Amino acid sequence: MKSKNSFEMKEKNIVYFDNAATTFKPKRVVDKISDYYNNYSANSHRGDYDISFKVDDEIDYTRDNIRKFINSKIKEEIIFTKNTTDSINIVVFGFFYNYLNDGDEVILSSSEHASNILPWMILSTKKKIKIVFVDSVNEKLNLNDLFNKITDKTKIISLAQITNVTGDKRDIKKICSIAHENNILVVVDAAQSAPHMKIDVQDLDCDFLAFSAHKMCGPTGVGILYGKYNLLKKMLPFTYGGGMNLNYNEESLELAEIPYRFESGTPNIAGIIGFGETIDYLNEIGMDYIERHVKYLKRYLLKELEKIPYIKIYNKECEGSTVIINIDGVLSGDLGLYLNKRGICVRSGKHCAKMGDNKEDTVRISLYFYNTYEEIDLLIEALKDKKSIYEFVK
Ligand SMILES: Cc1ncc(COP(=O)(O)O)c(C=O)c1O
Repeated sequence: MKSKNSFEMKEKNIVYFDNAATTFKPKRVVDKISDYYNNYSANSHRGDYDISFKVDDEIDYTRDNIRKFINSKIKEEIIFTKNTTDSINIVVFGFFYNYLNDGDEVILSSSEHASNILPWMILSTKKKIKIVFVDSVNEKLNLNDLFNKITDKTKIISLAQITNVTGDKRDIKKICSIAHENNILVVVDAAQSAPHMKIDVQDLDCDFLAFSAHKMCGPTGVGILYGKYNLLKKMLPFTYGGGMNLNYNEESLELAEIPYRFESGTPNIAGIIGFGETIDYLNEIGMDYIERHVKYLKRYLLKELEKIPYIKIYNKECEGSTVIINIDGVLSGDLGLYLNKRGICVRSGKHCAKMGDNKEDTVRISLYFYNTYEEIDLLIEALKDKKSIYEFVK
């Protein structure tokens, strides 16, 4: 019998190294979702019958589970969204649209994912604000440059805790501390960090934080927006409709309590319930174990890659779970397709981060805790087979 903690996808003889894009889902998460659809598939928002009570209880359970997972003070600070992209858009247009004044400045890094650049760019077409980009040195955020770029107009710093291409890990706690001394709010894109490390929002003291379930063994279509309660009180809903109001008539609208006012319409019930189970699963494995195991795998991967003279490695200095490479004279897309022929899934291109210092297309190998040393050996074997690579691409 299959263990409830197994991954059916792992049994398909696929070597999966595209975990920064999305991860496999353990059987128990899939079972939990099926259980909802098979056995109590009612809507949320307080129906008057048992299966609807159960749905609300499960959603509450997930919310509190997430609260504990990131150590926020109260579960009202946890808002369910569709994904990280949705969470950042909600903050940008629900909160910062009203918060910013003409001439204010937002600091970003040029290696952010499109989801943490485009919403700010669109905001800057609606309000007269300025976006200031921080430089990187050797693929890592230049903290001195960041602090030098703070002016009395700076109102926001919005950064990934770990970037999705180079895997640059930023010292968010230090950034928050300096930001707050200067009355600047900090938005953290935790899409690549929440799956890989313990996050404590009270210790970081960040103001908003966003992540996606699907990058951490959870379902697609569910994301989280954390916000400090005092700030959420000032945030306006981004979407309006059922579930987010207490009362309305032709003249007025009374908003529902926080966080429900930010969760209009029927939520992704199955996904949220599945995400609660995912958090239980990750807690059982332990975030410390996950971080450590991925670190060891990556160390091994780098050591083996360095033995292949024609492989260029771009991000040796970075701490995240990604390694980005190229082979001279081989298009990254072609190398990706060659590896696919050998049953190995990687990602090639710009990886949704088009403005970084690393403007070249690359092949990204991204690891997660269920990857093994044997899988890395298969990748290395394929990359060492220079003759087959050049034959494939010619
Ligand atoms: C750093 C980072 N931010 C944001 C996103 C967007 O996540 P989602 O597609 O789940 O909204 C990603 C996805 O790859 C990411 O890596």
